[in-house]
Amino acid sequence: MNEQIVILDFGAQYTQVIARRVRECSVYSTIIPFDTPAAKVAALKPSGIILSGGPASVYAEKAPLPDPGLFTLGVPVLGLCYGEQLLAHLLGGKVEKGLKREFGKGTLTIQDPACALFQGLPPEIQVWNSHGDKLTQLPEGFQTVATTENSPYAAIEHRAKKFFGVQFHPEVAHTPRGKEVISNFVHGVCGCGKQWTMRGYIDRAVEEIRSQVGSERVLLGLSGGVDSSVAAALLHKAIGDQLTCIFVNNGLLRAREAEVVQEVFGRNFQVKLQYEDASALFLKKLRGVTDPERKRKVIGKTFIDVFQSATKRAGQARFLAQGTLYPDVIESVPIDGNPAALIKSHHNVGGLPRNMKFELVEPLKCLFKDEVRQLGLELGLPQEIVWRQPFPGPGLAVRVLGELTEEKLRMVRQADAIVLEEMKSSGLYYKIWQSFAVLLPCRSVGVMGDERTYDYTIAVRAVESQDGMTADWVKLPYDLLEKLATRIINEVKGVNRCVFDITSKPPGTIEWE
Ligand code: XMP
Repeated sequence: MNEQIVILDFGAQYTQVIARRVRECSVYSTIIPFDTPAAKVAALKPSGIILSGGPASVYAEKAPLPDPGLFTLGVPVLGLCYGEQLLAHLLGGKVEKGLKREFGKGTLTIQDPACALFQGLPPEIQVWNSHGDKLTQLPEGFQTVATTENSPYAAIEHRAKKFFGVQFHPEVAHTPRGKEVISNFVHGVCGCGKQWTMRGYIDRAVEEIRSQVGSERVLLGLSGGVDSSVAAALLHKAIGDQLTCIFVNNGLLRAREAEVVQEVFGRNFQVKLQYEDASALFLKKLRGVTDPERKRKVIGKTFIDVFQSATKRAGQARFLAQGTLYPDVIESVPIDGNPAALIKSHHNVGGLPRNMKFELVEPLKCLFKDEVRQLGLELGLPQEIVWRQPFPGPGLAVRVLGELTEEKLRMVRQADAIVLEEMKSSGLYYKIWQSFAVLLPCRSVGVMGDERTYDYTIAVRAVESQDGMTADWVKLPYDLLEKLATRIINEVKGVNRCVFDITSKPPGTIEWE
């Protein structure tokens, strides 16, 4: 595969979204830092270049600027928002501070229906704006192709050179027809076909894995989560029995989790699976530990010890496979005053010590999460695994507040299974980010039959989120809440009260810990 769109990142909150939208058009895209030299960009043989938005002003002292050599490569360029202002600023136009900040919904009026970006679109479309500066004078050779209420230069074009700039954000959902604008750029202007598909990816990845690994053996820590599962299925397709998956039962898993993994990978896929039951060890190490950070540390360290000795038992292997994804490897762009580009999932700190002498195989490292799921389905993994909700590495330990005991784990595990079952049968499970049960560390009085009880409380949490960084609580239907409470209190011995968490993130976190 050789067609790709290169996206220069100027620190926009939405840079990864741009890359995903391009890929949704079945065209490969990569994100590179804004100051990548033009020769290096040329070496990537891009079919087109997109300049992302960004928080800076083009005339600010430390404004991030691209190598002007980009504009002499003969490659089409699309500048989004700050990217449009860059085009104007660097090619001889003028950008000034806007009197009115244009933020939120607007209406774009297409003035020149011949413009390739707007083919197939009506004369007016709804767009999403977010900028303070505005273009006040076009560079030579450019023309206005669309306007908004506030801006006579909402979209501009240099037809001969195939340079385009738009002041709005076509990549966000609030620009409902933005995907067509991006598709028009990548297909209509840059002439890309539809080469990027997960089916095609499988063939190339299989080739690459085989040529990297040769006849050596590969180990992989299988957690049952989406990423390691898809990596396992892909590697198994490529190298069969040269792959050994190590599955550690840390005693903090959900009900039936260990069975599902063994069923899917051992029985269906016939992957070589080394099952390590370390639950007793984990519980022993966690005895008396109540502080959440301490719990995480103990679990992390114990996991490394267990995994390390498991790899020794697995026999000589040169490679270790990991389900690293693209967002973990994109070079972040730290731009003054803007942390957006630096936000990374704080939990995704790949936990194995450097002294483990393996070479890495990372077959998912150019994929986004949605692509990994698609790939999983193509590889024949069940929906139950591919579309499962995120589950934290330290497992149920972060859902039992205070000290862990087998008894408390049993309660939270049973309650969790009920939440899972009811969420699935209501059809909501696959529509939301996460839903689960938490066991609170104190008891309260209740009455059951004629008896007074003094038992624990389960909190049910259900949240909606795009990436786990922010979240809203989900307004579950009352009858579902009622069913959950009734079942949890009736079926989980030791629980006499059920509450529903209505905290969003921020200020709350998703897990309680
Ligand atoms: P918080 O609780 O920080 O969680 O709002 C954000 C998201 O991350 C998940 N989470 C983890 N994922 N390892 C993981 O892979 C972890 O240690 C971990 N802790 C929390 C959490 O479930 C939520 O989706």
